[in-house]
Amino acid sequence: MYGEKGAAMGQIATEPRDEALYLILSTLGLPLDSDPTVLDRSLSAAEYAGVMQVLKRRLEEHVPAAYITREAWLGGLKFYVDERVLIPRSYFVEILPTQVDPWLKNPNKVSRVVDVCTGSGCLAILLARHFRKARVEGLDLSPGALEVAGKNVRRHRLSKRVRLVQSDLLSGAPAGRYDVILSNPPYEPTAHVDRLPREFKHEPRLALDGGRDGLDLVRRLIRESASRLKPGGILMIEVGGGRAPFDREFGHLEPHWFHTEDGSDCVCLIQAARLGVR
Ligand SMILES: C[S@@+](CC[C@H](N)C(=O)[O-])C[C@H]1O[C@@H](n2cnc3c(N)ncnc32)[C@H](O)[C@@H]1O
Repeated sequence: MYGEKGAAMGQIATEPRDEALYLILSTLGLPLDSDPTVLDRSLSAAEYAGVMQVLKRRLEEHVPAAYITREAWLGGLKFYVDERVLIPRSYFVEILPTQVDPWLKNPNKVSRVVDVCTGSGCLAILLARHFRKARVEGLDLSPGALEVAGKNVRRHRLSKRVRLVQSDLLSGAPAGRYDVILSNPPYEPTAHVDRLPREFKHEPRLALDGGRDGLDLVRRLIRESASRLKPGGILMIEVGGGRAPFDREFGHLEPHWFHTEDGSDCVCLIQAARLGVR
């Protein structure tokens, strides 16, 4: 997705004007909901230089806005981000509030949840806020991502309920079974990653590259989940553009595809029973 001057959109905004406004207001330390008349204000020489430097980084170096401001929003929450993590934009934010509970026998009694591939920890934090009594584990292979996630967990005051663990998918997860396993893994086919606009190349390749057809981690996660779900539990995975190959390979597991506003419907749910968990 491209905006004016060849700046790729899609990481924090879809419209170049919105992103430019966001960058200018945050550089000037002005509230993001400022009255539009603020744009008529004249700038001091120092303010002008600051704004121009930020716009240069965004337009010439193609640094994503979120890495410039070191912040991103998901589900109305603000998260610290830097180049060690993917900029939060998961479809789970649409699905979690209303579409997941109907799949659980007793959502209020969910006690153990895991976010595999946690990155900035954004989904682990949203999960902890949704399942108020649950202990949540956030797993990631990248030590840098786990440092960022730790910062976010502390900022959202969830250190008592959200635990972060370095783990290759579920292999290093603490013992026991989960009510809910959720993952937004790297799912771009390798060849797509190579062709992504420059903005996306600032994100960690480990966060994007899902192997030849994008499903390398998805396949492993499905295999590993069978021994880690409680009876009645659910596995939810975001697969991006991989729905068709996913359905060809895993259609027998009867995945339910959640509806998303833009119609991409790229997050599925598999019930524990379909993985042979009784
Ligand atoms: C698409 S990002 C998702 C981050 C975050 N959950 C979100 O939605 O913004 C994928 C994350 O998976 C991590 N990752 C990649 N391979 C992994 C593996 N084998 N085991 C655990 N985490 C992995 C990356 O470090 C990255 O943080």
